[in-house]
Amino acid sequence: MEPIPLMTPYQMGKFNLSHRVVLAPLTRQRSFGNVPQPHAILYYSQRTSKGGLLIAEATGVSDTAQGYPNTPGIWTKEQVEAWRPIVDAVHEKGGIFFCQIWHVGRVSNYGFQPNGQAPISCTDKPLKPQKRANGIDVAEFSPPRRLLAEEIPLVVNDFRIAARNAIEAGFDGVEIHGAHGYLLDQFMKDSVNDRTDKYGGSLENRCRFPLEVVEAVVNEVGADRVGIRLSPYASYMESGDSNPDVLGLYMASSLNKFGILFCHMVEPRMITVGERLEVPHNLLPMRKAFKGTFIVAGGYNREEGNKAITDNYADLVAYGRWFLSNPDLPRRFELNAPLNQYNRSTFYVPDSVVGYTDYPFLESDA
Ligand SMILES: Cc1cc2nc3c(=O)[nH]c(=O)nc-3n(C[C@H](O)[C@H](O)[C@H](O)COP(=O)(O)O)c2cc1C
Repeated sequence: MEPIPLMTPYQMGKFNLSHRVVLAPLTRQRSFGNVPQPHAILYYSQRTSKGGLLIAEATGVSDTAQGYPNTPGIWTKEQVEAWRPIVDAVHEKGGIFFCQIWHVGRVSNYGFQPNGQAPISCTDKPLKPQKRANGIDVAEFSPPRRLLAEEIPLVVNDFRIAARNAIEAGFDGVEIHGAHGYLLDQFMKDSVNDRTDKYGGSLENRCRFPLEVVEAVVNEVGADRVGIRLSPYASYMESGDSNPDVLGLYMASSLNKFGILFCHMVEPRMITVGERLEVPHNLLPMRKAFKGTFIVAGGYNREEGNKAITDNYADLVAYGRWFLSNPDLPRRFELNAPLNQYNRSTFYVPDSVVGYTDYPFLESDA
């Protein structure tokens, strides 16, 4: 029988992928003290298939990068050592594993910052309090401090070192987190960035810092190990842009200068977290402009993923919530087997099993 389009092989740079179903980065808030924990070995290895691509949850690049409890980092030796057995377990099963490197910028508060200092951003405009993903708790943000132009190279350097650390921990590469209203996105989006120096104002200036991060990371670990995630259309954390078509296209074509491995874009329909809206835009212009591997994500099911591959709309499709609740998602797609429903209320609970490693595999494979 012919394999379904999602289950056909794909050559991504030097990586031989056996199929096109990617694990999207998923923050799980189970890395106590910002250190990845041994229970992540089982979690990631459950979601590994031979020749499958996995992107690890957002991982902080420095002690100012955090804004959520129990998210992992990769700036200390202890964190690098803690990642190693997790990465080894994925490699033992033949997976390809990228680390998503992250700085939250102003999506933080004094409590997450060293010495209770202000979070950093492109701006000093504060965020309004927001309901947390569980729909009950409210996240409070402290007014950010606008980075001085002279300080920006220091943050670029944090990304560079984090990328080096990821390779040292054994990861095959890194995905720079340029999406969802976090630090890089704050610079790109004109509703947030109100700077008047060379990092603000024009589109080119707003994209300068993210592209400097890309360049530094490429110089450190090589373009064939670097991807970036972007969400030009999203407005999470008050980070919308007045012209996302132009922003997305500018980034997609500027990235070609660096020859990076992949560009991972979130669909315009994911304007808010977890809610799919009908919109008139799509990512085709960006897919056409970008010369490397193009990954799409956001609200995909099996059928739409197959269509994206058949239509050459994307090379790979990343799945978030369905992969969270179906550790054997590629196999289920292959067999057209039913999927486990995900349980939103356990996405972020700090339990090392519940809502994490207790989603069942297909019985026929057990
Ligand atoms: C529990 C949870 C955690 C997430 N964490 C991250 C993250 O760390 N980094 C990121 O770029 N996106 C994150 N996302 C967004 C997902 O990667 C994905 O883009 C989103 O869930 C939409 O895809 P889906 O419809 O396949 O779930 C998260 C989403 C969920 C549900």
